[in-house]
Amino acid sequence: MSDEAPRPDSAKSLLTWATAGLASLASLVLGGSTLTYLLSPLWQKQDEGWVDVGRADAFKPDQPSKVEFVQRQRDSWSVTEKRSSAWVVVEEGKHVKVFDPRCPHLGCPYRWDVVSTKFKCPCHNASFSMDGDVLGGPAPHALDQLPSKVESGDIFIQPDAKAKAEKS
Ligand code: FES
Repeated sequence: MSDEAPRPDSAKSLLTWATAGLASLASLVLGGSTLTYLLSPLWQKQDEGWVDVGRADAFKPDQPSKVEFVQRQRDSWSVTEKRSSAWVVVEEGKHVKVFDPRCPHLGCPYRWDVVSTKFKCPCHNASFSMDGDVLGGPAPHALDQLPSKVESGDIFIQPDAKAKAEKS
């Protein structure tokens, strides 16, 4: 049997290493949490740009309505707001069509003419049916339709879908 008492240097060294180990572990946990918090916007699921433009039953059937709304776009750490608009047509009270508010000729804003029941662009006199088809003037194609869906009675649209399609 050994009568040797533990050497003070050895106990002190063990305590130093244990303290350093605990401090390192604490740093890792706190640093990891902070890093996770700071980088979380990079992997947060982005909404797909759907904007709620109102109750479907609030729109008059077969009567185009211009809706104005604010889009909030999250870009990692910042959120920007952009005012925009679209034309909504609820056909027979069920089928929803949403049109980009810019004329496909040169981008002027067009309007719905109640008397002639046509969309009319004042810039170069293009006209379109309620379905968006070209009826006259220089427009090269029908009105651009935006993706839409109805959920829980609300109409949602994707105003940037056209812009994204043009970029890709
Ligand atoms: S921009 Fe609409 S007709 Fe030219």
